Amino acid sequence: SWTMANVVEEQIAAVRAQVGTRRAICGLSGGVDSAVAAALVQRAIGDQLTCVFVDHGLLRKGEAEQVERDFVASTGVTLKVVDARERFLKALAGVSDPEAKRKIIGAEFIRVFEQAEREIMADAAAEGEPVEFLVQGTLYPDVVESGGGTGTANIKSHHNVGGLPEDLRFKLVEPLRKLFKDEVRKVGEELGLPHEIVWRQPFPGPGLGIRIVGEVTEDRLELLREADAIAREELTAAGLDRDIWQCPVVLLADVRSVGVQGDGRTYGHPIVLRPVSSEDAMTADWTRLPYEVLARISTRITNEVREVNRVVLDVTSKPPATIEWE
Ligand code: XMP
Repeated sequence: SWTMANVVEEQIAAVRAQVGTRRAICGLSGGVDSAVAAALVQRAIGDQLTCVFVDHGLLRKGEAEQVERDFVASTGVTLKVVDARERFLKALAGVSDPEAKRKIIGAEFIRVFEQAEREIMADAAAEGEPVEFLVQGTLYPDVVESGGGTGTANIKSHHNVGGLPEDLRFKLVEPLRKLFKDEVRKVGEELGLPHEIVWRQPFPGPGLGIRIVGEVTEDRLELLREADAIAREELTAAGLDRDIWQCPVVLLADVRSVGVQGDGRTYGHPIVLRPVSSEDAMTADWTRLPYEVLARISTRITNEVREVNRVVLDVTSKPPATIEWE
């Protein structure tokens, strides 16, 4: 019978047959696909797998720890963490244009990942065990999309951090190729991965870098991380996670508005809430969140996040607006 346990066993056997006693590497993004792929391959080949996590500093609050601590604890994966936060901030300094930001983040990511790759390969080669395989969390819809040549207009340059462009030096291991997203989540649960990773809503590769309208700085990232964490906490507490496709929280860093707080006038930045309902992100509608939940998020963000004195709600569908602001 077709159960998730069977799917897992089958894929583990397939990976063992493909990789044998050789070595593999896998990039982790913090997202569900790469995490499940890595966990499955770890079950199959143990420490012949090395994972790489590039901390670009653009993840949300707690997400780097989820990978570095909780994912490692639940899988026993060998993980190489590259702290590239400074490097990404330097590369992004002075840049406000959305496409320029995306290109910089994507290019920087590949450079950092390849450097880590070379280090792992050098170590492995020194032990006479070259790395021959690259694990990727490719899903069935990705396979269909890339084979089908749908010709969708490229509206934004998508850099799928974690899903690197096909690297010809390696043979690919893609244990999720036959699965849809909901099945991947079931496999993740079967493998005992942390709930926060398995049920993570879609999050763009360039991360918070494209949710700060304006230049990306450390202070702004910190501020957005706090606001985003509050919104996520309240949505979860209200039991709304499964009703929402995702809810980008955006900092309008180049906009200021006047407010009054405590003993006087403020001149702060607005935070935008962008809750959307969608089937596949190609089209989306803005989610009619309960007013009480919106009120709690707004009150908490303006009370708890310095320099934010206004919270606004995005009530635009896609099209005409995209889900992300950049
Ligand atoms: P848009 O903003 O184009 O987003 O309506 C559609 C979906 O794609 C996500 N998104 C990205 N995902 N790399 C990704 O992996 C990217 O560069 C990227 N840009 C947008 C977005 O969060 C939404 O789910």
